[in-house]
Amino acid sequence: MDEIRTKRSFFADAHEFAVVYNLYESAVKQLALKFEILNSEFNVLYDRNPIHHIESRVKSFESILAKLEKKGLPLTMEAAKSGVNDIAGVRVVCSYIEDVYRVAEMFERQKDVEIIRWQDYIQTPNYNGYRSLHLDIRVPVYLSDRTEYVGAEIQIRTIAMDFWASLEHDIRYKANKSTLPEGINEEMCVCAEKIAEIDRQMQDMYKRIKASEQEKK
Ligand code: GTP
Ligand code: MG
Repeated sequence: MDEIRTKRSFFADAHEFAVVYNLYESAVKQLALKFEILNSEFNVLYDRNPIHHIESRVKSFESILAKLEKKGLPLTMEAAKSGVNDIAGVRVVCSYIEDVYRVAEMFERQKDVEIIRWQDYIQTPNYNGYRSLHLDIRVPVYLSDRTEYVGAEIQIRTIAMDFWASLEHDIRYKANKSTLPEGINEEMCVCAEKIAEIDRQMQDMYKRIKASEQEKK
């Protein structure tokens, strides 16, 4: 019953909801394209792709409600717009650690992008070893009669970090109803450390191979 009431109040103006949702979808399309363009230019200039793949999504209505509830915010569109920073989300998965920073810096230089928060979970991993570079940003979306500044969360990480985060999320999600067995977070941390070591080793090998190719030229 409560859920029906919530949905009614949220969708009180179905048209407004469609307008706002379209804004987030537009922001996501535009941001994904920005990263595709950076990747293809890099490919033309240096004959390699710093970006392995890009994922993007607009948060589902159910997830927006769940996040509002978790944060103790009113279940309204206004609260969602100001209190949920990842309604629009883009995940950029790079090959090597240095690519993460290179891509982030290229993106940061774009004049129309406003970086609101730069959170480096690679330098300072989470309690369970989670690693990624998070950028909370705002980007203009040009509409028929106005410009809207739309918030989005960009996650930039390596393939290795993505591998860990996907499985950790899967494990945690499956155990959601009960509590995690003791020691899991610590073990997750150990796995994340090992993966981080492999990330560094892969990057080091890549650099050595590149250097030896340069010497031969
Ligand atoms: P909110 O974005 O409002 O939740 O708070 P915040 O900005 O402090 O969160 P943060 O930016 O740290 O994390 C947001 C997103 O990062 C999550 O929705 C996940 O996608 C990802 N994330 C953060 N921590 C973890 C983690 O421990 N494991 C996994 N798999 N993903 C994480
Ligand atoms: Mg966040």
